[in-house]
Amino acid sequence: MNKKLHAIYIGLFIFVGVTSTLLLAIDGYQYYTTPLVNRFFNPQDSLLNPSGLIGHGLGIVGSLMMIVGVAIYMIRKRVRAFLHWGYLKNWLELHIFLCTLGPIFVLFHTAFKFGGIVAVSFWSMTAVVLSGVIGRFIYVQIPRTIQGQMIGIEELNGINQQLSKRLREEFSVNENLISKIEEASRFAKPQKENLRNSISFMLKDSIRIRRILKNIKKESKAASVPSKEIREIQNTAKSKMILARRVRLLSTMQRFFRHWHIVHLPFAILMFFIMFIHIAVAIVFGYRWIF
Ligand code: HEM
Ligand code: HEM
Repeated sequence: MNKKLHAIYIGLFIFVGVTSTLLLAIDGYQYYTTPLVNRFFNPQDSLLNPSGLIGHGLGIVGSLMMIVGVAIYMIRKRVRAFLHWGYLKNWLELHIFLCTLGPIFVLFHTAFKFGGIVAVSFWSMTAVVLSGVIGRFIYVQIPRTIQGQMIGIEELNGINQQLSKRLREEFSVNENLISKIEEASRFAKPQKENLRNSISFMLKDSIRIRRILKNIKKESKAASVPSKEIREIQNTAKSKMILARRVRLLSTMQRFFRHWHIVHLPFAILMFFIMFIHIAVAIVFGYRWIF
């Protein structure tokens, strides 16, 4: 997938997600804000309650989106036969889209009342989504190939050298500035940090990078480098400094990611388990939607 196609792919997800959420919220606002005891008398009740035409449909579509979102990602990642079907990165993006919008549809399906044993499924779903956001953050801190495989230190060194070469050969950067950038992006030995130290390190490092980028801009402007080129120099220097940060936190993030998997999966299993019981009970009680 080239850059333009990828922008359309992500843009489409954002458009569909935001539009459908806004439409559901605006259309149902009056119903969802009516107290539970009075909802039965609301003209939208037959459509929007959890067994209504739209409410029930949202439960089915939302649940299907989560099932498909998890299944396709796990199959693409684990089954050899599908190993060459597109980039894993793009399948993860699809997983995130389906498993974010699916839970939003289920939220509207519940009509914001969380009773019975199925509430456990709902809160597990919420926990999986929230942990997903944290997992995604940790995931991107670990340098990977586009196919999702982690990259080793040697290869990262190679990438860093390529960026240095680019800085020297493609732009008019003076030696003084180059050595400042090299100093700011020197690889440190990966450290094992705890959660608090790594968050504080990342915050401090972001401030440091921002300061250095400002300096690069100032010095390049003084040397009359064209603004388009300054942006490119800044981007290359930023990539180098972020790479150095990721190397320093590599073993920490790999450890966090292993722990994260242990939390994320059981909530997903619990959610699906109770969801299937809930679906079976709904069918036994004669709720068939349009079928
Ligand atoms: C993770 C997915 C799901 C969650 C978390 C969920 C959650 C809920 C909740 C919280 C309620 C309201 C309970 C109450 O009245 O207090 C409900 C009702 C209902 N759900 Fe789901 N649901 C899910 C998927 C589904 C699916 C796929 C179906 C259809 C097969 C379905 C069918 C129903 C029906 C028919 C009701 C109304 C039951 C009644 O009025 O007695 N749900 N659901
Ligand atoms: C109800 C919603 C969700 C469910 C049921 C779910 C389920 C899962 C499962 C079962 C896996 C393990 C796949 C594997 O190891 O092969 C997984 C991986 C992952 N999910 Fe989700 N997920 C949900 C939502 C999200 C969200 C909202 C995000 C991000 C914002 C997210 C990000 C991730 C990431 C980063 C991975 C790790 C990928 C990897 O290790 O290759 N998930 N999810």
